[in-house]
Amino acid sequence: MARLSINVDHVATVRQARGSSTPDPVFAAGLAELAGAEGIICHLREDRRHINDRDFKLLRQTVKTRLNLEMAAVEEMVEIAVAHHPDMVTLVPEKRQELTTEGGLDVNARPEHYRKVAEQMRTAGIEVSFFVDPDARQIKTAHQCGADIVEIHTGHYAEAASEQEAVERFKRIVTAVEAAHKLDVNISAGHGLDYVNVKRFSVLPQIEEYSIGHSIVAMAIWVGFEQAVRKMLDLVRNF
Ligand code: PXP
Repeated sequence: MARLSINVDHVATVRQARGSSTPDPVFAAGLAELAGAEGIICHLREDRRHINDRDFKLLRQTVKTRLNLEMAAVEEMVEIAVAHHPDMVTLVPEKRQELTTEGGLDVNARPEHYRKVAEQMRTAGIEVSFFVDPDARQIKTAHQCGADIVEIHTGHYAEAASEQEAVERFKRIVTAVEAAHKLDVNISAGHGLDYVNVKRFSVLPQIEEYSIGHSIVAMAIWVGFEQAVRKMLDLVRNF
């Protein structure tokens, strides 16, 4: 049975659209936990475009399940993580101009850097996940750098323009998950997953956790946040 962690970034996106104080991602996190989610995720970006420092600190104080801080592997974020101690961090690439995280980390480009950041997290007692494309080479290097978890980037699969493309891109995910499983590293997956495209993952019991945000926030507009979380839990708990 896979776990579900809820990314609350886009609750903050709606708040930021008006520069007001609602909707509050901290309140959303509480509702997600009430609905049964196993974890809460937020991405503190360098430009603070959605989640801000106040959100992260309050989430740290209020989340009762597991708090996962998505962050770039840069000094500022390492300091924030060490100071506030989320249960885990997910290292992601970050570009200022992107709408959302566009791809996995290129761990092979800077293995020593990522090894050092992973070590800093471990020393602070924080678990480390590496967000990587479904690519066995990246997964292997992430593992060698000390990743406790690899999160497979599912965004390219989610964006497939046809069924044939979706099938091909999903095959890459299957191969990557098999490679990660052989290394005995914990596996999670996320980005762009929704109530329809997630169903294909029922054949991959090796994936222990799903990290999902946007589709749940979008569904919440129609059915409410708790119900939107429950609907996704009903799917992933049957994998
Ligand atoms: N995993 C990672 C590493 C991400 O950067 C994101 C987006 O913030 C997600 C999962 C969730 O993606 P989505 O909001 O498309 O469900």
